[in-house]
Amino acid sequence: MANPLHAAHFADRASASRVRIVENVRLARDTYRVRFECPQLARQITPGQFVMLKIAGFNDPLLGRPLALYDTVLWPGEAAIGIDLVYLVLGKMTRRLSEMVPGQELDAWGPLGNGFPPQETEHLIMVAGGIGQTPFPALAREHLGKRTYGDPPRKVSPVKKITLCYGARSADYLAGLEDFKQLGVDLHTSTDDGSAGHHGLVTDLLTQVLDEADRARIVCCGPEPMMEAVAHVAAERGVPCQVSLETPMACGIGICFSCVAKVRGEDGTWDYKRTCVEGPIFDSARIEW
Ligand SMILES: Cc1cc2nc3c(=O)[nH]c(=O)nc-3n(C[C@H](O)[C@H](O)[C@H](O)COP(=O)(O)OP(=O)(O)OC[C@H]3O[C@@H](n4cnc5c(N)ncnc54)[C@H](O)[C@@H]3O)c2cc1C
Ligand code: FES
Repeated sequence: MANPLHAAHFADRASASRVRIVENVRLARDTYRVRFECPQLARQITPGQFVMLKIAGFNDPLLGRPLALYDTVLWPGEAAIGIDLVYLVLGKMTRRLSEMVPGQELDAWGPLGNGFPPQETEHLIMVAGGIGQTPFPALAREHLGKRTYGDPPRKVSPVKKITLCYGARSADYLAGLEDFKQLGVDLHTSTDDGSAGHHGLVTDLLTQVLDEADRARIVCCGPEPMMEAVAHVAAERGVPCQVSLETPMACGIGICFSCVAKVRGEDGTWDYKRTCVEGPIFDSARIEW
């Protein structure tokens, strides 16, 4: 599909492949990182896009599950040969996945979704809740000029500063902090129980960061009420904000309409948009929360 205005444009660039697990390691409570080889997918995928994943050879669960790109894996010579996905154990698929070992196989279908467009900004503020930090390592790496993504590699103007405001239930759920620190991301954490960082909401951190920020943009991923709250803060401050919706999905390729969200158009009226092919990234001001 050559027409980028066509809803299925992004799905049409996806392909299915059987992939072999290279690593499957625990990062935090109920949270794992799975790494598999997939040179074609790794070359094409951009930050904010996702992959539908299924356990190879099993039809239970019947449908694939969407997981966001955490980052690509490079081989000496700098070619992207694999990808990392980070997942929270929630139901049947993620539980089975957490028990898998290197050498076992998965069916991966992707890259899917629109991904984050390159951000023209000085200060990129990433806001994550729960497992919502997963789309951000690749986005940070790209905007710090440390890696390119996509085929052909897309051009992104480097930003001056990247901040991550990351909220979780408790300290043991915070996953991948080292990855962000190594990238040089300015990291602020919050927990509901006060066991790490700020005792309270991630939006408290965001408002503090925005007080000192200049020419900023926000990207956000997490539970819907948290994204709605971030969208309101962004609107009050007049800061552009994009959200990555985590609507449950069935087909992932625009056919079943199980993933729709209410999104307003230019004229202010809303219509249903399919998160899998027209998202998952949307301008937060356009979402009918
Ligand atoms: C674009 C996109 C990217 C995602 N990226 C990641 C990621 O990087 N890491 C990660 O851990 N998860 C991610 N998710 C969520 C992930 O797809 C679900 O957690 C997954 O379906 C769990 O599969 P399961 O079989 O283990 O549990 P399921 O049996 O599918 O679900 C168990 C329970 O969780 C509920 N549920 C399932 N999906 C969702 C959802 N999206 N929102 C709220 N409740 C839900 C179900 O209704 C059910 O009650 C993403 C979702 C989307 C749409
Ligand atoms: S998941 Fe089927 S249309 Fe989006």
